[in-house]
This record gives sequence, C-alpha cells and structure tokens, in this order.
Amino acid sequence: MQGNDKDGALVKEAVHAAVEHFGSSQDELIPILNEINRTIGYIPGEAFDELSSLLRVPRSQLFSVASFYRMLSTKPRGKHVIQFCESAPCHVVGGREVWQAIKDFLKIEEDETTPDGHWTLVTTSCLGLCSVGPVMVVDDDIYGNVDPAQVANILEKYR
Ligand code: FES
Repeated sequence: MQGNDKDGALVKEAVHAAVEHFGSSQDELIPILNEINRTIGYIPGEAFDELSSLLRVPRSQLFSVASFYRMLSTKPRGKHVIQFCESAPCHVVGGREVWQAIKDFLKIEEDETTPDGHWTLVTTSCLGLCSVGPVMVVDDDIYGNVDPAQVANILEKYR
C-alpha cells in the first residue's frame, strides 16, 4: 500500500476511521493499531506518521508497540495468515512435528511470506485452546488436534 497518493489516502482514511472509532486517547493505542492492521492487512509507515500526529505520540513509540504485539504487523502479509501456537501444552502433544510439517509444506520459516504472497507464517502464544492442541489458525479458522498428516489437506483448502 505504499508509494502512491491513492494508497496514501486509503491509509490516512483507515487511521482516521480507527481513531474516530476508539477515540484519540493514548489508552486506546492497541485497539487503534489493531483496527488499522485489520483494515489494511498491516501497519504501513504512513500510518505511523499519521497516527503520531493525531495522538501526539512519537512515531518510534508507536512502532515499538506495533513490533511487540504478534497480532500486529509492520510488513505486508500474505493473502492467508497461519498462526501456530508455540506454547508448551501444544508443543508437548505433537506441536513440534506439526510446525515442521507446515514449514515443509510452505517452504518458509517463521515470520516469512511465500514469494507468491499467498501465505504468511507466524507463531502465537497460547490461544486458550490447549485441550485441543496442537492448534493452528488460518485467517479466522481454528484447527485443533492437528496431526502432521493433515497439514497439507487443511492448507490446500485455501488455494
Ligand atoms: S498451548 Fe496451544 S492453545 Fe494453549
């Protein structure tokens, strides 16, 4: 979304809409960033500039908050985002093997996007679904009790 006036206008619009919705208080920083991320797919540089002047928060502070939270991204993401739970309860019931199967299928590592822009792979901490671990989430779809042999079938649905 970077690089031309039209995209810049869309980014500005997304930032203003998020601030209008949640209010211009610094206490609402996370929901505002989350909303911008949801609307645009990630948080581009222009969004930090705009938000910095609207909330009177230094750009560097906004960027470090956005970099801290895994649900937020400062880089463009693929069409489909796979989140894999890397917390211990999922890990000990076969998470490690499932994680390897996902990486083998996509041929990318954590925090990478496939060259065709179709997939982004990220890890997440516990999703509160430990009783059905290992757990992976594709966009908004949750998969529990995932077995390495199921990974290809699950992901093929998003082709
Ligand atoms: S540890 Fe994976 S969902 Fe809780």
